[in-house]
Amino acid sequence: MSDKKREQRKNEHVEIAMAQQDLPQSDFDKMRFVHHSIPSIDVNEVDLTCELDDFTLSSPLYINAMTGGSDWTKQINQKLAQIAEATGLAMAVGSTHAALRNQDMAPSFEIVREVNPDGIIFSNVGADVPVEKAQEAVKLLDANALQVHVNAPQELVMPEGNRTFSTWLANLKDIVETIDVPVIVKEVGFGMSKETLNQLYDIGVKYVDVSGRGGTNFVNIENERRDLKDMSYLSQWGQSTIESLLESIGFQADMNIFASGGVRSPLDVVKSLALGAKAVGMSRPFLNQVEEHGVEATIEYVNAFHKQLKKIMTMLNAKNLDDVVKAQKVFNHDLISWIKQRELNVQ
Ligand SMILES: Cc1cc2nc3c(=O)[nH]c(=O)nc-3n(C[C@H](O)[C@H](O)[C@H](O)COP(=O)(O)O)c2cc1C
Repeated sequence: MSDKKREQRKNEHVEIAMAQQDLPQSDFDKMRFVHHSIPSIDVNEVDLTCELDDFTLSSPLYINAMTGGSDWTKQINQKLAQIAEATGLAMAVGSTHAALRNQDMAPSFEIVREVNPDGIIFSNVGADVPVEKAQEAVKLLDANALQVHVNAPQELVMPEGNRTFSTWLANLKDIVETIDVPVIVKEVGFGMSKETLNQLYDIGVKYVDVSGRGGTNFVNIENERRDLKDMSYLSQWGQSTIESLLESIGFQADMNIFASGGVRSPLDVVKSLALGAKAVGMSRPFLNQVEEHGVEATIEYVNAFHKQLKKIMTMLNAKNLDDVVKAQKVFNHDLISWIKQRELNVQ
């Protein structure tokens, strides 16, 4: 595949993703908090500091992987980096494969570090990338962590996608053992099972982003790019973010679990935290905000988001992120059924 075609593919992904609508009913609605009428804390007591094993974030919210690899997405990366710099959010770039193949594309990623020299930045590669290339991806951005995406359904619906997956686990192990920054294995919107988490745990992975179904849908995006558009029947494939977090419960003591996929409101973030997520990523909402309303408005959006997170945490008597996990949760029948059939040990 030529570099020009790759550049075009990235632009198509962004264009199609921006036009996607979320489903009216989100799986986050399947879990509720119990309300208590007399909070014991004040809003100004709430602290959003997010302590991870290897670094500390000022907020659990982060800008998840999307762009880079074309002229247009260089501009988007620049704007997202300005927002990250102004708000203190951690930020991931999209897959750096374009830059690893063609040096001319490196600036579309490097811009993120230029704009935000002291920020927490995650680089991004696919699970098939050789270890040396994964090292280059970290160097490219002086990255604080490396996201390695696992995206089999996307590859399989993508007309020109990868058809070889049996080497992924061994390659992931090599990457985890070699790279000297934390490695975050991430899905791209299909969620994770406890079996996958167990495989990752066994090879030494300490950070996982379960990125579940419910938001950006890469089956639909790739299906749009197929001549016959004949694979839409797979559009419900995968676990939702809530289901994936439930799957992760047995691993949360040993791994840093991040949530993303269909997270749209401060309430979705608090629900993810309550289910044990250590940090919570959003992608498409940032893309739409920044492309439709610009950098300043998106900074305001993030500031408002943070204020609202604190308000919700006040209602839950949660002064910090650790307290959120103690909040009382009630699941609807769908989730109870998932928990039972999957034999998950949810308290
Ligand atoms: C335009 C676009 C491009 C993306 N490109 C990547 C990518 O290169 N690497 C990756 O790991 N995930 C990529 N993702 C997936 C997101 O990081 C995230 O897992 C997924 O979009 C679900 O989150 P959302 O519902 O908040 O968008 C992309 C998402 C979007 C919207």
